[in-house]
Amino acid sequence: MEHHSPSKSTIFVALLLLLLLACVHYAQANPGGRRPSIRSIFVFGNSYADTGNFVKLAAPVLPVIPFNNLPYGETFFGRPTGRASNGRLIIDFIAKEFGLPYIPPILGEERNFTHGANFAVVGGTALDLAFFLKNNITSVPPFNSSLSVQLDWFRKLKPTLCSTPQGCRDYLKKSLFFVGEFGGNDYTFFLAAGKTLTQVASYVPKVVQAISAGVEAVLKEGGRYVVVPGQLPMGCIPIVLTLYASPNRTDYEPRTGCLRKYNALAHYHNAALFEAVYRLRCKYPKAKIIYADYYTPVIAFLKKPKRFGFSASSGLRVCCGGGGPYNYNLTAACGFPGVSACPDPAAHLNWDGIHLTELAYSRMAAGWLRGPYAHPSILRSMRS
Ligand SMILES: *[C@@H]1O[C@H](CO)[C@@H](O)[C@H](O)[C@H]1NC(C)=O
Ligand SMILES: *[C@@H]1O[C@H](CO)[C@@H](O)[C@H](O)[C@H]1NC(C)=O
Ligand SMILES: *[C@@H]1O[C@H](CO)[C@@H](O)[C@H](O)[C@H]1NC(C)=O
Ligand SMILES: *[C@@H]1O[C@H](CO)[C@@H](O)[C@H](O)[C@H]1NC(C)=O
Ligand SMILES: *[C@@H]1O[C@H](CO)[C@@H](O)[C@H](O)[C@H]1NC(C)=O
Repeated sequence: MEHHSPSKSTIFVALLLLLLLACVHYAQANPGGRRPSIRSIFVFGNSYADTGNFVKLAAPVLPVIPFNNLPYGETFFGRPTGRASNGRLIIDFIAKEFGLPYIPPILGEERNFTHGANFAVVGGTALDLAFFLKNNITSVPPFNSSLSVQLDWFRKLKPTLCSTPQGCRDYLKKSLFFVGEFGGNDYTFFLAAGKTLTQVASYVPKVVQAISAGVEAVLKEGGRYVVVPGQLPMGCIPIVLTLYASPNRTDYEPRTGCLRKYNALAHYHNAALFEAVYRLRCKYPKAKIIYADYYTPVIAFLKKPKRFGFSASSGLRVCCGGGGPYNYNLTAACGFPGVSACPDPAAHLNWDGIHLTELAYSRMAAGWLRGPYAHPSILRSMRS
């Protein structure tokens, strides 16, 4: 898993090219048109997209929810909003691009979902809670917020947005959907339950299948534009670097300082997801299914921080954290009393040890909209 032999990657690339060619025919068969106006956005996902659901869901259960406290939200909004960052998330920048308001979280105060709804929940998984419990993975939090649950929430909301079949087709044709990122939490909970990386990797096909089924459910509901984000490079996430630190230097990539084997797991997931997206494109030729990349930009930001506006020295160090080599401390995490943020969050890639800063998200949003971090880019998919 750690190293892909040249022959294997050559075969993989060749396979992707074949899949690509197989779909080109269908793509060309679609009549070209103007860029449609996107009137609503629907988001399924986890803490990389949650704009206020978890803080509502967890309020009766958890005594302290860090995302409810400053410095979360300090840079933009000026108050905590339930977003796991110092400011806006990718999804906020994308809504802005289409001239839409912030997409309201489904569990929040706003009840008008004409312009879309956000169903993402911190901790959200691709696989259902029941699957984890059945397999004795008790490290999973007790919140029932997996992709299929979020899809149920969408199905319940849908009749309030459109009523006739034709009305729904017209409405959803102008909607943009996000399915993910999903999988990062699934793998984290397997690891926390003591599974080895090899055992965790054996779940990748099942996780990717669950995401693919979620995308298919969206398409069957009438969705036309669907963005499917892959994994971040797991071995570059400070909580992973802290929990699974290795005394052996060869376990780290020299240029980035990330843990190789955890990045290889994410890479394996992304390759499988990329292939699943191609299969869906062939099966649903009228849909525009976009693979969005979290992995490449994080590596690019780490390798050339100054080019993207980050400080050269911040690297893998967390802005808001309570000490340790990465300034990430499990028992003194961001949002807890006495833990403060760095004076210059915009110089940092990582905000709290798991999530990124607003600047990182804004760079990624630009790359998903215009390239090069989405395949095809969101705006390009709307022109073809
Ligand atoms: C919901 O918002 C839309 C767009 O802002 C508006 O046209 C509509 O009247 C609102 N619906 C209700 C029930 O307030
Ligand atoms: C889960 O744990 C219970 C009790 O320890 C055991 O009986 C059962 O076989 C385990 N199931 C799986 C799928 O490992
Ligand atoms: C989670 O919620 C769904 C409904 O969306 C329900 O069918 C399922 O039984 C729930 N699972 C658990 C483990 O509570
Ligand atoms: C470090 O890992 C490499 C590659 O896995 C291995 O060859 C080497 O023996 C390890 N070194 C130590 C000190 O464990
Ligand atoms: C982590 O936080 C705890 C509790 O505040 C503190 O006792 C400990 O020294 C911190 N660890 C590091 C490495 O700073």
